[in-house]
Amino acid sequence: MEWEVTAFAPGRVNLIGEHTDYNGGLALPFAIQRGVSVRARAQSGGRIEVSAADQGERENFALADLDPAGAGTGWVAFVRGAAGELARSGVELSGAVLEISGDVPQGAGLSSSAALEVALCLAMIELSATPGPEPLELVRLCSRIENRWTGAQTGLLDQIASLLAEEDHALLIDFRDLAITPVPVRLGEHRLVVLDSGESHANAASGYNERRRECAAACSRLGVDSLREVTEPMLASLPEPLDRRVRHVITENRRVKETVAALRGDDRSAVGAQLDASHASLRDDYEISTPAVEAAVKRCRDAGAIGARLVGGGFGGSVLALMAPGAEAPEGSVEVRPGPGAAQLLAR
Ligand code: GLA
Repeated sequence: MEWEVTAFAPGRVNLIGEHTDYNGGLALPFAIQRGVSVRARAQSGGRIEVSAADQGERENFALADLDPAGAGTGWVAFVRGAAGELARSGVELSGAVLEISGDVPQGAGLSSSAALEVALCLAMIELSATPGPEPLELVRLCSRIENRWTGAQTGLLDQIASLLAEEDHALLIDFRDLAITPVPVRLGEHRLVVLDSGESHANAASGYNERRRECAAACSRLGVDSLREVTEPMLASLPEPLDRRVRHVITENRRVKETVAALRGDDRSAVGAQLDASHASLRDDYEISTPAVEAAVKRCRDAGAIGARLVGGGFGGSVLALMAPGAEAPEGSVEVRPGPGAAQLLAR
């Protein structure tokens, strides 16, 4: 039978600004070419039948029977969560047959989860007779799929990038008010590559939620709503390791601004230096690197990277490296360029 709808959403690379999104800070992600596709057709009977083509797995469930407590684990929790959150937001869902396929590696820190959520929601909205939420509302809805249905207390970074990214640009996102400013990424002869550390990470099971709790604990000790309000002199009143966690967030926000200035000035060495400084901070202050990630960073540097850092939630995943002109990127790495987000693709 024919598919009625195909929705695609890309994964993302965060150029810089890691673990700042849930702290009211700044980040600078872009969408990559790899992503997740969901093909769909309506069917009667109020059930979702879904297959994950790459895993050779399938599942089915009734739309009347959706509850985060029984969401299960793995990719199926995302499908139940997408249906559950869309229904809660007032989208009238029909029964459907869905097929998921994609080429963003899972657990590699490239937001396969956000790509899956966004593609699922766009496909189900397209099948529905009701209009979907506004873009930033859809971003929040997709984030709730992770928070409520998979147990990962992640922020809005990945969903904004996957849905709203613009070709040839990174998005400067200010998480205080969700202001988004596209920043052109012109790299000349330099290239950005990602190298998988080989260590799979999962936000729900890693130390991610613990870092979030530490930031919340620092806020309550300092009497602020968000770490965006904190300045370096205030660190002295925090116990170890909260002082270092907060220092990472403060200095990372500054590095995002400096990277934007470097991009605008076509100063690629300065971009590389910011990537290195971000990595050192993530490793030493935020403590989310691992030996496998360090080995991947070293491989990139040895191959001629002028800056390299871990991307995404950490505790495994990928490294992003800025390769000098003519340098041969390490074996197994993949070049990434800022591509269109799902909304820009839909509008074409
Ligand atoms: C994961 C989360 C994001 C963000 C990054 C770290 O990708 O999903 O919300 O917190 O980690 O910057």
